[in-house]
Parts: sequence; structure tokens; C-alpha cells
Amino acid sequence: MARIAHRMDDIKPFHVMALLGRARELEAQGRSIIHMEIGEPDFVTAQPIIDAGVKALQAGKTHYTPTMGLPALREAISDYYLSHYGVEVPAQRIAITPGASGALQLAFSILINPGDGVVLADPGYPCNRHFVRLNEGQSIAAQVGADSNYQLNEAILKTNWTEKSVAAMLASPSNPTGALVGDDDLKAMYDFVTQQKGTLVVDEIYHGLVYEKQAKTALAISDDIFVINSFSKYFGMTGWRLGWLVVPEAYVDAVDRLAQNIFLAAPTTAQHAALAAFEPETIAIFNQRRDAFAERRNYLLPALRELGFEIPVTPDGAFYLYANCETFSDNSYEFVSELLEKAGVAITPGIDFGEHAASKHVRFAYTTSLENLKEGVARIRRFIKS
Ligand SMILES: Cc1ncc(COP(=O)(O)O)c(C=O)c1O
Repeated sequence: MARIAHRMDDIKPFHVMALLGRARELEAQGRSIIHMEIGEPDFVTAQPIIDAGVKALQAGKTHYTPTMGLPALREAISDYYLSHYGVEVPAQRIAITPGASGALQLAFSILINPGDGVVLADPGYPCNRHFVRLNEGQSIAAQVGADSNYQLNEAILKTNWTEKSVAAMLASPSNPTGALVGDDDLKAMYDFVTQQKGTLVVDEIYHGLVYEKQAKTALAISDDIFVINSFSKYFGMTGWRLGWLVVPEAYVDAVDRLAQNIFLAAPTTAQHAALAAFEPETIAIFNQRRDAFAERRNYLLPALRELGFEIPVTPDGAFYLYANCETFSDNSYEFVSELLEKAGVAITPGIDFGEHAASKHVRFAYTTSLENLKEGVARIRRFIKS
């Protein structure tokens, strides 16, 4: 009999994986499926990055890099903070990690003692509460909705903060809602958390994919904030497994020690390849893709509203629309399953992002072509009418 640790009872799978599996089965049977469930850009990694990766391999760059990352890449990210955000972030505070996932694992492991509380937005990225659990902490699900632009704010944070709380975590723009946190809200939350002697952790993985506004990094507020980012989304490198964590000075040694022990270093080829991500010609490709995402959002948002999905606030970024589907069903999982079986459209049920009103919500990802989105909307329309 398998002797699996008790903590694993609380580590839930992504429900969307079962749906994706079913979608693949249907495709194998010859059915056409429109994929609007996938949380990664449909674009292949930009060619200059692929070329740099191939070149690194051909030059035999196959050994470990230093644990904190290739010095040139840490410098390039530091330069990017200065040129893009006008914020000075010393390379020495930047740890290169296997995706934002590696950065989250480091951050939570370094901050949480058993029993410590971490306030998280619900709905939010589900892995965060699992990282808290792995470290024997308690996640505190703070309900967010349209009234707070689907983000935490100071008032919500205050209501949910307990004497056991040591950190608050938010993603801006958020997955699943695409909502950006307000600059003043972020500052107020930072002030509150600091007053409570806690730590603010901000996931900026969807920065770059913001359509009208200019996202500011939380590092502009203070050097004391843990900031997570990644090459997965705007930089289009999901499969290369590369991200980074910016930590306050006092935590650098702890991050280095822990990263040595849990993954030694981020993938070497990916790090060499990512150096090309900061070249102007590559940034131009990313920005074209960002514009394509904006165009898709601008099509899909009114189309879904017109069908009867409620999306009260226009999302600022990422590539998601989080929609209330109550007009059609009060069980979003069933709704999503039926939509897949009967209409051949795959979307993600709310339950993948927490518990708050999860059965009334679904997430649409516009990580497929405009043409596919139009076909998806046509299929949903027929499904709803029938
Ligand atoms: C909010 C958020 N954070 C972190 C991640 C992890 O990304 P990665 O490990 O690919 O960088 C994701 C992936 O979807 C995400 O949506």
C-alpha cells in the first residue's frame, strides 16, 4: 500500500486537466474542439530565443549555471527593471528559477512556519494555497468580486488578517480574472502588511500582457516586497521552465541555500536562450503578440456578454475572461462538461480557482486565434439556444 503523506490529501489536481484529457479523447475520435481552457500563449517561442537556445547547445553549454542564475541574465533582468519600469533592482537580489512555480515555492518556503497564515485572493491561482499547505501553513481565502475589481484591497486584507498571518499574496494581473491591482491599493496593502510585520508577495507573471494601462511593478513601492515573474507568458517560453524571484536583501542568502537544495539551478539552455528576450527585435515580437491578445479580448468580451455571460469589469490584462454563467447553470462544472461534449468548446470551471462563487463561474482563455474564438462563440450560441 502506498504511504502517502497526509498533506497530499489537500493537494488538489487542476480539474481542467480532466477536461483537457477528455477534449484530447474527443479529438482522437475525430471531433473538432475549440480550446479556450489553456493557460499558455498559443504562439511558438519567438525565433531569436530559439536560435539563442540552439546556439548555446551547440556551444556545449550544458552544465549547471550558478544556483542564483546566469550572471548575464540576472543583469539583463535588472536592466529591464530600469528601462521598462524606471526602478533600480540590483541583479544580486534576483534569483533565476524554474518558472514562476519555482519562485513561488522558494518564496513560500522561506516565509512560512507551520501554522502561519497567508491571505490569498479567492478566486486566485490555485497552486498558491497548495504551496502554503506544503509548508504546513494556513491559507486564508479572501473573497474578491466585481466590487473590488476582483482584487484584494486594504479593507479586504484587514478583514481577513489574523494574528497568525505572516503574508499576503496577490497576482496582478490576476489569473483567472485578468484584473490589475490599483497602484494606491497596492501601496495601502503594503503599508498595512508592513505595519503588521508581515510580508507582501506579488506575482507579476502577466506583466507585459496589459492592454490599455501601464502596469507598475510593486518594486517601485519598496525593496521589501517579494516579486515573482516568469518568462512563460509575455515572453512566450512556458516549456522552457524559466522565471525569477526578486527578494529583499536580507533574504538573498536563504533563497540561494534553498534553491541549491531543491533544484540546484534553473535550466541552462533556457537561461542562455532568454538572454535574447531583451533584444529590441524580440521585444517587438512580444508586443505584436500582446496586440493580438488585446484584439482577441476586444472581440471575445462583448461577444460573451452578448450571449448572456456576466463579466462586470473589463479585465486589464492576462489572457483570461472570468465570467458568471448563472444565466445558464448554477453548476459551472456540469456546464463546462456539457459544453465540451455537446458543443466541442473547452473552458475551465470556476472550481479550479477557489471556492468563492466557483459554481457560478467559468474562465475563458483567449489563447487561440481570433478565427477559433469566433467559431467557439458560434458553437456556444447554438448550444445555449438548444
Ligand atoms: C498567476 C500565475 N502564477 C504562476 C504561474 C506559473 O507559471 P510558470 O511556472 O510557467 O512560470 C501561473 C501559470 O499559469 C500563473 O497563472
